Amino acid sequence: MSDDQPKIWFNGEVVPWNEANVHVLTHTLHYGLGAFEGIRAYKCSNGKSAVLKLTEHIQRLYSSAHVAGIEIPYAIETLCSAVVDILRENELEEAYIRPIVFIGPGKKGILPGDNVINVAIAVWPWGTYLGDDAITNGIRAKISSFTRMNINSFMTKAKICGNYVNSVMARQEAADLGFDEGILLDSEGYVAEGSGENIFIVRNGTLKTPPLTSILEGITRKCVLDLAEDENIPVKEQCFTRDELYIADEAFFTGTAAEVTPIKEVDNKKIGSGKPGDITKKLQKRYFAVIKGEDAKFEHWLDYIP
Ligand SMILES: Cc1ncc(COP(=O)(O)O)c(C=O)c1O
Repeated sequence: MSDDQPKIWFNGEVVPWNEANVHVLTHTLHYGLGAFEGIRAYKCSNGKSAVLKLTEHIQRLYSSAHVAGIEIPYAIETLCSAVVDILRENELEEAYIRPIVFIGPGKKGILPGDNVINVAIAVWPWGTYLGDDAITNGIRAKISSFTRMNINSFMTKAKICGNYVNSVMARQEAADLGFDEGILLDSEGYVAEGSGENIFIVRNGTLKTPPLTSILEGITRKCVLDLAEDENIPVKEQCFTRDELYIADEAFFTGTAAEVTPIKEVDNKKIGSGKPGDITKKLQKRYFAVIKGEDAKFEHWLDYIP
């Protein structure tokens, strides 16, 4: 691997990219029990870089690990500082940040026993997740043939590594069929979320998003709910069906990677006018102002990198 690959924080040390390796008998590699996060750092208009909702993301990493029965061998503050340190070490002004907690080799069966718990934090430059055009003009989505995991089979509030088999299959199916993203229904048949995004619709001026019952508690979802409240946009956290999505005036995804991405079509049916709607654009504009440090009211969502 080339030397210009970003360095990685690995169990308390900063190591070159090609030295952050794992053994083939790493427990998580076989059984999927691990937890990860996705965080972004942005270059703000004042020239400084900042991490968006750093504590919330690291807190969710601990919650995911807790659900998985994994005890992270570091304090929350240590991992928050490690994120900042590894960004500085790599001199990255804007980056996607991927902390991962995984169970090492040792016991080979399903029960991990006292195998070592590892933590790594990787960072890399990452532009728009679904493409620049997606942010401006919206994406084409497909209702997935894969159902979102049942709440008693997998723990949907945790970003557990193995959960993402469901997401990868939905995203791959959508891509194979020429769509940008898949939308998964829950086991009751209601709209749940995208493979890596929460979903919102707008009908008659009201914003609607599925309740947290069977989806990931998205940090961007919460940002958008707070921004909507600030804009006096009425919000309902309520289940809705696939046909309600088809007849929505507007629809969009939220996510750390996807940010606020308009959905212009679902299953080849136009959503509203087939162009990003006014409420979507208003919330998207506000979100982008916040992440650039241009919105004083929500600047506390940013941790500036010293
Ligand atoms: C399944 C799923 N839903 C929703 C989201 C959006 O969550 P967040 O806004 O915290 O990135 C993600 C991304 O982490 C995800 O993987």
